[in-house]
Amino acid sequence: MHSFLTPFLFFILLLTPILTLAQQQKPSIYIPPSKSGYTYLGCYNETTDLPDTAGLRALNGGKNVVKPGEMTVNMCLEFCSTGAGDSKGGNTAMFEYVGLEYSRECWCARSLSGLSEKFPDDACNLPCDGNATQICGGNLKLTVYKAGTMKSLASLSAAGLAAVMTMISILF
Ligand SMILES: *[C@@H]1O[C@H](CO)[C@@H](O)[C@H](O)[C@H]1NC(C)=O
Ligand SMILES: *[C@@H]1O[C@H](CO)[C@@H](O)[C@H](O)[C@H]1NC(C)=O
Repeated sequence: MHSFLTPFLFFILLLTPILTLAQQQKPSIYIPPSKSGYTYLGCYNETTDLPDTAGLRALNGGKNVVKPGEMTVNMCLEFCSTGAGDSKGGNTAMFEYVGLEYSRECWCARSLSGLSEKFPDDACNLPCDGNATQICGGNLKLTVYKAGTMKSLASLSAAGLAAVMTMISILF
């Protein structure tokens, strides 16, 4: 009996620190795939405590949802990807700014308050309630994502290239 149990106990002892390590994995900033339409902008602070904002949020005037125990970055990006209104009066356009705060809050807005300041990435240090490997802001800090940054950068450099080509063709 004894010799039968020994390898089993050894296995359990070996497994415990591995499982503990896995549980303690530090959360990191989630970088969404380009098909989500959003890119990571940075860690910004909430503005509700500033005297001159009348309690306005850094991401104000859009929509928001609080999901204790469930929130993930993907869930929030999905939630903010419609409802901003578009030129045709539809409601399908995505909100320009998305922010996760305090592990469970999701904020969507058309703009980010100019009073909100960018902080070092590690100032947003709380895991998402629904996925402990992802960062979901911090206490009065927002993990902010912006719509279409990569796309607009690409079109910007395309426009820059076209301008340079035009100048060259004028010069020669
Ligand atoms: C946001 O950051 C600014 C600049 O550091 C600070 O004055 C303000 O109090 C901060 N707001 C909050 C809610 O921490
Ligand atoms: C949790 O987040 C990680 C890192 O972003 C991701 O790879 C994984 O698929 C997520 N798990 C769930 C259940 O959403």
